[in-house]
Amino acid sequence: MSARHVVVVGGAGAIGAVVATVLAEQGMQVTVADRADASEVVRGLPGRGHVSIPFDVTSIDDALAWFGPEPRAGRYDALVFAAGVNYTGPVATTDWTQWKRVLDVNLRGAAHVGQAVSRNLAADPRECSIVYFSSTAGRRGEGGASVYAASKFGLIGFMECHASEIARYGARANAVCPGNIDSPMLRALAQQVGERTGQGTEATLAEFAGSTAFDRLIAIREVAQVVAFLAGPASTGMSGQSVVIDGPPR
Ligand SMILES: NC(=O)c1ccc[n+]([C@@H]2O[C@H](COP(=O)([O-])OP(=O)(O)OC[C@H]3O[C@@H](n4cnc5c(N)ncnc54)[C@H](O)[C@@H]3O)[C@@H](O)[C@H]2O)c1
Repeated sequence: MSARHVVVVGGAGAIGAVVATVLAEQGMQVTVADRADASEVVRGLPGRGHVSIPFDVTSIDDALAWFGPEPRAGRYDALVFAAGVNYTGPVATTDWTQWKRVLDVNLRGAAHVGQAVSRNLAADPRECSIVYFSSTAGRRGEGGASVYAASKFGLIGFMECHASEIARYGARANAVCPGNIDSPMLRALAQQVGERTGQGTEATLAEFAGSTAFDRLIAIREVAQVVAFLAGPASTGMSGQSVVIDGPPR
């Protein structure tokens, strides 16, 4: 039997690269798709047959070419959408260029890939799992996060609709909602928030870590293991769900 083929969109990023690694460790064949060069990530993956492809999620033409009815990426059994960008700032001073950038990647980009997957499944119906990266910011808003939260709330709504539409093919879609992950993206956010509040980066990071009863940040690998479960064949009874990866309330 051939290995399960999983595409990781955004797989050159901090979380996507670890997702690709955990999938490869579990014997899956991984295609890493990113607008950034992902060849180094692919070289570091255990096993054989992994490839990287250049892909910008803001192009619907590229999404359809790589993942649509005649996918240049080849037949795939799962697709993880882990691309994403962040922006922080109060509503009163929203930078509309940043608004467009965040929504274009996090929400419209996901919809481009989702449309390609839908057309692919119509041409080739099969068991297939889509995992979209939302965030705890896609479940609960907080001051300063309006643009990012709008994209991640929107993505959950999109995922729920997509899951209903592709169920007829035997395919499914779910979202993961990671909390505060020990990552460069969170560190950059802590720096921006720390500058705005005057509290500094390290104190802001400590505050993020203390926001749940775990009293720590979540490791990227802890996120990747949940994603691997959802992308794999053990989760065929789950679709339309948003899975939070975070500690309990304090
Ligand atoms: N880091 C966190 O604390 C955290 C928490 C919750 C959710 N998330 C979400 O997890 C996902 C991964 O985050 P990360 O920490 O790995 O971020 P990251 O910045 O390290 O990686 C994001 C990846 O997306 C790629 N990307 C951005 N725009 C793209 C485009 N137009 N086309 C193709 N690829 C594009 C980047 O090149 C990068 O490789 C994101 O969706 C993020 O919003 C992150």
